[in-house]
Amino acid sequence: MNIAAVVLAAGKGTRMKSALPKMLHPVCGRPMVTQVVGILQEAGIHRIIVVVGPNEVADRLGDQIEFVTQAEPLGTGHAVLQAEEALKGHNGPVVVVHGDTPLYLPDTIKELVRYHQAAGATGTVLTVDVEDPTGYGRIIRDRDGSFVKIVEQKDATDEEAKTKEINSGTYVFAREPLFAALHQIKPQNVQKEYYLTDVLAILRRERHKVDIYKHGDAEEALGINNRAQLAVAEGILRDRIRKAWMLAGVTMLDPNTVYIDAEAKLAEDVVILPFTFIEGNSRIAKGSVIGPFARLKDAHLGENVTVTQATVMASSIGAGAVVGPYSYIRPHCHIGAGARIGGFCEIKNTVIGSNSKVPHLSYVGDTDVGSDVNIGAGTITCNYDGAEKHRTIIEDRAFIGSNCNLVAPVVIGSDSYLGAGSTITGNVPPGALGVARSRQRNIPDWAGKWGKKQSEEEESR
Ligand code: UD1
Ligand code: CA
Repeated sequence: MNIAAVVLAAGKGTRMKSALPKMLHPVCGRPMVTQVVGILQEAGIHRIIVVVGPNEVADRLGDQIEFVTQAEPLGTGHAVLQAEEALKGHNGPVVVVHGDTPLYLPDTIKELVRYHQAAGATGTVLTVDVEDPTGYGRIIRDRDGSFVKIVEQKDATDEEAKTKEINSGTYVFAREPLFAALHQIKPQNVQKEYYLTDVLAILRRERHKVDIYKHGDAEEALGINNRAQLAVAEGILRDRIRKAWMLAGVTMLDPNTVYIDAEAKLAEDVVILPFTFIEGNSRIAKGSVIGPFARLKDAHLGENVTVTQATVMASSIGAGAVVGPYSYIRPHCHIGAGARIGGFCEIKNTVIGSNSKVPHLSYVGDTDVGSDVNIGAGTITCNYDGAEKHRTIIEDRAFIGSNCNLVAPVVIGSDSYLGAGSTITGNVPPGALGVARSRQRNIPDWAGKWGKKQSEEEESR
């Protein structure tokens, strides 16, 4: 069906008390406006116009989404009016949603449109009953239950304010009468704004059919005006995400301590242990075990990977690799299949080949490590000379003794060995032993002589 949607996202969001526009505050890792757009797309709406203010919201929407600018936030009605030009010629229903209501299920939007069309209405508003209607517009019905008007809290009489049925801010309209009515609204209210809500009363006055679609689940209509509501929305969405993954075959020992962002994707038989964060567009393949105390951000994990008490940022990890405990994989790494990264190792912008090991206390940065390499405890790649970064290359099967410094740029050849404690500043050919440390010297009976000298000095004092 030919449905268009307008998302209102140009408000100031004053109640957030934030330098960041309200629309960009994330809910489960995704800006709330992006979440709203995603819901509409899932509901099968492909023509989506976002009304943005003169701020960075448009930049964050990407080029997939159409937007129009509302230069000044003069009210929700004025905001919808900005989409008039863009919607010229559109002949299906127009859904209007606020960018600060990110909890609708796509089915609810579909159902609203279906209801509106079945009723042959010109305008339909989605309402819910809430315990505490503070801050919402109240739905005023006449004695036989049909729609009369919406009154904002600030404009309501005490009697009207008692109403528990609220305007969710989600509507469906027929295009032409919508814009005709929008041209008639006036900012005659406490906030001196052009209210979209007034459109429905105008339509009714002009004998158009205005209907109410009352939705059973008030949670879905939660509007985010402040950070307390943001936290409530985050909790609801997080709960839904965890439940969906569990039903899709993911085990969670203690779901309440697991945080999964909206865009992350997990496969069957993934096990998530407590206190684990899976952020951004992380992907986890079958059989991987994550946690406890793990953080993955934009990480791509192959099958049967283990990540324990570790952080993995914007990197990929091959099948069967083991990371942690206490490892830090920084962006742009690829850890090969079967590799092992152990305790207190930091890896950055590095490729680790398959079955290679960095098991203890190392920094490996800007490095290409081949396969079956063993990097001893305490190895450091000295990648930075104070001005520039340089790469280190460690070829297949090389054995790096403990506590080596590899001063980049440097190439450690295949099958070579480095003596423990070496500071390597030049290339080591394949198969060679590279040692770069001063030779050990032993002074016999030194301890005895030293002890004698000490006690003589003490006596003479
Ligand atoms: C609005 C409704 C209220 C409803 C509530 C539901 C009006 C007048 N009031 O109140 O009846 O119960 O939502 O959550 O419509 N926006 C713009 N441009 C503007 C003003 C707002 O794009 O000039 C956008 C905001 O970014 C926001 C949405 O419209 O996404 C709603 O604005 P907001 O100020 O949050 O309205 P509420 O006071 O919540
Ligand atoms: Ca709001």
